[in-house]
Amino acid sequence: MSVFWNSKRKVYWSTFTRPLLFLVLCLFCASSCQEAPEEIMTDQDQEIEQKIDSLLALMTLEEKIGQMSQVRHFADIEEGDVASKFIGSVIHTDGPTPGEGAAGWQAKFTELQEEALSTRLGIPLLLGVDAVHGQNTFAGATIFPHNIGMGATGNAQLVEEAAAITAKEVQATGLNWTFSPCIAIPYNDRWGRVYEAFSESTELTEQMARASVRGHQGELSDQHTVMATAKHYIGDGATDYGKEGGPTTLDRKEVFERLLPPYRAAVEEGVGAIMASFNTLHDILMHSHKEMITDTLKGVMGFDGIVLTDWKGYSRFGENDVINAGVDMVMAVDGDLPKFQEGLTKAVASGYVKMDRIDDAVRRILRQKFRMGLFENPFPDSTLIASIGAAAHRDKARQAVRESLVLLKHENNALPIAKDSRKIVVVGEHANNSGLQSGGWTVTWQGKAENYPGATTILEGIQSQATGEVVYDADGTGEHHDADVAVIFVGETPYAEFFGDIQHDHSRDEYLYTLNETHQQYINAYAGKGPKVVVVLISGRPLVVTEQIDQSDAFVAAWLPGSEGDGVAEVLFGDHNFSGKLPHSWPKAVEDVQGRFGPNYWDDSIEPLYELGHGLKW
Ligand code: BGC
Repeated sequence: MSVFWNSKRKVYWSTFTRPLLFLVLCLFCASSCQEAPEEIMTDQDQEIEQKIDSLLALMTLEEKIGQMSQVRHFADIEEGDVASKFIGSVIHTDGPTPGEGAAGWQAKFTELQEEALSTRLGIPLLLGVDAVHGQNTFAGATIFPHNIGMGATGNAQLVEEAAAITAKEVQATGLNWTFSPCIAIPYNDRWGRVYEAFSESTELTEQMARASVRGHQGELSDQHTVMATAKHYIGDGATDYGKEGGPTTLDRKEVFERLLPPYRAAVEEGVGAIMASFNTLHDILMHSHKEMITDTLKGVMGFDGIVLTDWKGYSRFGENDVINAGVDMVMAVDGDLPKFQEGLTKAVASGYVKMDRIDDAVRRILRQKFRMGLFENPFPDSTLIASIGAAAHRDKARQAVRESLVLLKHENNALPIAKDSRKIVVVGEHANNSGLQSGGWTVTWQGKAENYPGATTILEGIQSQATGEVVYDADGTGEHHDADVAVIFVGETPYAEFFGDIQHDHSRDEYLYTLNETHQQYINAYAGKGPKVVVVLISGRPLVVTEQIDQSDAFVAAWLPGSEGDGVAEVLFGDHNFSGKLPHSWPKAVEDVQGRFGPNYWDDSIEPLYELGHGLKW
């Protein structure tokens, strides 16, 4: 278990001294070498590079640009296109599922793989998916807490194990690459993707990034592991006012000290891919930021894997400048495929993009395909299907839920709740809805407000553990003042990406810094009326709940726990004590999050309600 919060000194060491050393090293390297540091190649590496040389020598420009193209299986291609356009990668994210059940998914990806292998050079496909908290695109998979909860566990070993389980369930559905982990450092809780990241702490994120990459990839060549992607490079969580894809204006030193170390850690662990970010950095589009991609990431940091665009990154962020900046593979979706393939072909013909750049990109893509053993083992393993949502996987996810819960306030011996309490009233729709408890990127991109297969709700967990009466007051009517305890669930409804931003252009109105009125009423209906009041907040980020904390006897930040709701019940009932610690500073007032950045441990001008690392036990 790794702990960073107990010692301020350690935080200081990590946040200032280490990054400074890194900065000095970077500056030194930047001035003395633009190329990747000389590495001692193993025999196996040499063999792979020779194979790549031979393949590259045979490839036409069309085949090379094909390798650089990534498409969706249902929308961007028609039958035969994988072969005729020499596609290098296919993804599944939102939209129609690839088939009926896991066997149907495997059949679809087998079919596409066969098509790729039928080409003259028989280069296998990379098959990517946004499995960001379990294989969350497959209804019935084990869904872990989102990264914010995993950050709260402070348990790197657990993050590694969760990633290994995710990898297995991803492989079981026929895919071999995940766009995870997100290793952003969020600076403002208004950002709609705070929950995708582990923490505002650079050091904690660094530890979790390492663990996640190790867990997903194993040795990369291992069977039943997948290639990981560190994202979004760089500055995604540090945009001004927390706007998804907005401008990141941290100065250069801050970027190197605070945002870059988790990437360095991921690269050291051999992460296979890195995804470019939607934001600008110092007014330059990150997708076209040659200094950060080619010079820093590939040059100074020695990253030899694939740099991938984000969604439609080619047409949105500079077309061929994206390639010249060092991006190797293009998410050519939503109509971008012809634009990309034709545009790059023309740019090579005119000399705007050099052949060396194309060869470097294709070399990196082929390198990972060789490292993953895809040429020998391109097809899914049907024996893995039984592991999807397996009991052992769910046990691990339940452990993650238990360890992710942060007890913010505890008074009047409200916890643990006695299992034999005469009467417990459970309040709020979040108590009995696995979609709401799982957040965005669950079954669909934006998540669901309904139950989904295989998941257990928190209410079900409470009902199965309590030996006395449990009543469910979904709408907070306040009809059960005779209960010993009211367990009141409040929080956010699922969102993903810009939809979840608070008060920005595309954000949905329902996302607020505070609880909505209905949820405030749930608490008003019971606070001071008899029962002890335990409030559980289900949210992707800290919210301003100072008044509600005052009203409660105990207040729990449960984040987005995922499919194993009974893990919450196990801690409320005292089978386990709380161990989670805040991965973020917690704001005390709306004003705290309205500025460029919210409270965070780099900046003592905004005093948080609770500091990073806060977390009580009963
Ligand atoms: C997101 C990425 C994601 C990609 C593919 C983008 O909109 O920013 O995080 O991996 O879509 O679904």
